[in-house]
Amino acid sequence: MTQLDQCAVLFVDDDPRVLQGLRRMLHGERRNWSMQFAASGREALACLDRGGFDAVVTDMRMPDMDGVELLTFVMEHHPQVARIVLSGEIDPSVGLKAVRCAHQFIAKPCEAEIFKNALARALALRRLISDARLRALLSRLHNLPSQPALYTEVVAEIQSPNASSRKVGELIGRDVGMTAKILQLVNSAFFGMARRIGNPQEAVVLLGYDTVKALVLSAKIFSQMDATRMKRLGLDALWPHSLAAGQCARTISRAEKLSRQAQTGAFTAGILHDVGKLIFAQNFTESYADVMQQARTAARPLEDVETECFGASHAELGAYLMGLWGLEEEVIDSIAYHHRPPPAASVGPVTGVVYAANALEHLLSTGAPHASGVCVDPAVLERLNIADRVGAWEETCRRHLQEEIARAE
Ligand SMILES: [Fe+2]
Ligand SMILES: [Fe+2]
Repeated sequence: MTQLDQCAVLFVDDDPRVLQGLRRMLHGERRNWSMQFAASGREALACLDRGGFDAVVTDMRMPDMDGVELLTFVMEHHPQVARIVLSGEIDPSVGLKAVRCAHQFIAKPCEAEIFKNALARALALRRLISDARLRALLSRLHNLPSQPALYTEVVAEIQSPNASSRKVGELIGRDVGMTAKILQLVNSAFFGMARRIGNPQEAVVLLGYDTVKALVLSAKIFSQMDATRMKRLGLDALWPHSLAAGQCARTISRAEKLSRQAQTGAFTAGILHDVGKLIFAQNFTESYADVMQQARTAARPLEDVETECFGASHAELGAYLMGLWGLEEEVIDSIAYHHRPPPAASVGPVTGVVYAANALEHLLSTGAPHASGVCVDPAVLERLNIADRVGAWEETCRRHLQEEIARAE
């Protein structure tokens, strides 16, 4: 990072016209972003060696060194630099290779606003990684998972000017496991659909792009986990808890008549709020088992013990990863602050909804919010401006849960 308030971005493309176009498109951002342009992978490596970059945005197909090679190098040698692919590449096999090493994939041609927002979101993570301890933890994670390929494809389709529910449905339909999972979820009492949904396209039409996107992402992340390891760590209940927290967040945000965008944000953050636990479990299985045991024995909040042992909690770690994958800022904030108060009252209403949804889900499923080390902190409720709402939200979620049980019977 060059200055505290300025981000450094390196753009790489072998086509000078593309670099020129980017220069023009981002001219208005020059005060916020320090931008450098490299005409080849080799030139990019020389720039990266000088250090100080927050993000690299690269084309895929380049002579000499292609985007995959470049990003693999960045992943290994500069793991904290956000890796973004900006490419007109439509060959799915190349796309698949890219998702292993890229955090975000933006399809060319792309509107200036979409691109600026995606980049701004990746760069907004500086707020989180400015914490030296989280930065140190990230450098120990050799294996920060990449965006699931199907999710990348679904997002690219949704962002394309000719997006259609048919095409999104087809993408999901190619993945038999995902199709089964989505249909099972959509037809469960969870979504309360009036009739049976028979194919992924119908699910897309009824649920909307953003909800489907969130379902694909969370189902993929969870299915990538080793089931035996999850069971051994006692994390096998995390998926049902995450889904139910997503549902509570959706129910509350509807009752509060938040905007449609906020409702989907709340659902997305709800189902992904504990994703950091999966990263801990995958990277530090043994020590994470110890941390969870310590928290249980001492009846202390898990996130406090995680912070003592690893320097950051699952909340910050999950928020960081979801930020790299380009999720909306309010989703990232809601994940980051689902256990502790945000630094300022500047966060949107979704953060309060997700904080309450997680705590209420624990309360409603176990009957005791403290059983899992989750507690509702009155100071946080004050800060989030929801102290007077939580009682009503609990009633709403309880009622919804009862209706759901009745419908399932
Ligand atoms: Fe949590
Ligand atoms: Fe949770």
